[in-house]
Amino acid sequence: MRPPGPRGQSRPLPRLLLPLLLLLSQAYLSSSSSSSSSSSSHSHKPCTVCKNIVDQFNKGLANTEKKNFGGGNTAWEEKTLSKYESSEIRLLEIIENLCESDAFDCNNMVENNEEHLENWWFKQKKKHPDLFRWFCVDTLEVCCLSGTYGPDCLECPGGSKQPCRGNGYCNGDGSRGGDGKCMCHLGYMGPLCMDCVEGYFSTWRNDTHSVCTVCNPACKTCSGPTHKDCGECEVGWVQEEDACVDVDECAAETPACDQGFYCLNNNGSFFCKECDPSCSGCVGEGPGHCINCTAGYAQEDGACRDVDECSLPEKVCSQEHQKCFNTPGSYVCACAEGFQERDGGCVPTEDTREDEEAEETPKPSPHEDL
Ligand SMILES: *[C@@H]1O[C@H](CO)[C@@H](O)[C@H](O)[C@H]1NC(C)=O
Ligand SMILES: *[C@@H]1O[C@H](CO)[C@@H](O)[C@H](O)[C@H]1NC(C)=O
Ligand SMILES: *[C@@H]1O[C@H](CO)[C@@H](O)[C@H](O)[C@H]1NC(C)=O
Repeated sequence: MRPPGPRGQSRPLPRLLLPLLLLLSQAYLSSSSSSSSSSSSHSHKPCTVCKNIVDQFNKGLANTEKKNFGGGNTAWEEKTLSKYESSEIRLLEIIENLCESDAFDCNNMVENNEEHLENWWFKQKKKHPDLFRWFCVDTLEVCCLSGTYGPDCLECPGGSKQPCRGNGYCNGDGSRGGDGKCMCHLGYMGPLCMDCVEGYFSTWRNDTHSVCTVCNPACKTCSGPTHKDCGECEVGWVQEEDACVDVDECAAETPACDQGFYCLNNNGSFFCKECDPSCSGCVGEGPGHCINCTAGYAQEDGACRDVDECSLPEKVCSQEHQKCFNTPGSYVCACAEGFQERDGGCVPTEDTREDEEAEETPKPSPHEDL
């Protein structure tokens, strides 16, 4: 049986469903001490709810401390204060604020266990000052003390003081759920998280403590911190004499990058960058590293520079009244000022238009270059 899921709270529940859910979750709560089947994660739901209630209770205690008293401490105030301190009024005030109004599980747990809280408040508080332990662990039996897990609050692997040798979580730690298995932190493995995973090496180990450190990036496996301590080289590195060294993928016979891109080597890998627009093939960044120049560019002082087609000896804009405009990699022919394009030629603007297409600006006709 499962308690209503967390998303159930925010959705409005049909009226008929609510009593049913109440019933279900009550049945769940009362059976949770004998059944751990509902959850194997380390955040066991009823325990989380109970923990939050206790947290809120302790906040409520702090908030109601010296409430209604201005800070003076006349004998009368002292007397009234001590009365309020352990009064039902104060308890009810705290209980009222234990749950958000829409927190179904929380309200449910408080409602079903109000008498336990009263019992603790009036009779158990002195003897059992730790409300979490008294309420969640010993009375409701929805939590375990930290370092223990499961229905019977068994000790976590490695003991409750430092479960999993401090290198992992004990599954179900502090809840009535879980199987107590260690879930190790990054770099660790084994039943007690004492062993190092591949890519890590042991820098410290005795019977109760173990420290694993990540290998050098050059190593897939290692026995020490440097690239000379590799057992096996990482992908992108090769064994060379006594060390793993980076492979220069860019020096390979077959180009590592597509045409129009150049190769940059880095540790363990490489990447490709697009050539400059002036290049037709390149070996590096910018117009100075072209293999050939693209059309409209030409080699000049070791780089591909834009050709100014407008200043070539042979005119590229050959029509009458046309002007040439240079562009990067190409040029544009357009009618000179006072002329406009008509029927493939340039005609004077004044003479021809008496209609609304009165435009003084020349209309460029981009030249399609090869
Ligand atoms: C193991 O190492 C830890 C950490 O250095 C130390 O605190 C502990 O006393 C050592 N235990 C033994 C048995 O040597
Ligand atoms: C590769 O790593 C070494 C040391 O680990 C460093 O000195 C070097 O600068 C790195 N090279 C690149 C290209 O990142
Ligand atoms: C570069 O241009 C030359 C001459 O036009 C040509 O022979 C050669 O194949 C070109 N190289 C590349 C990589 O395009």
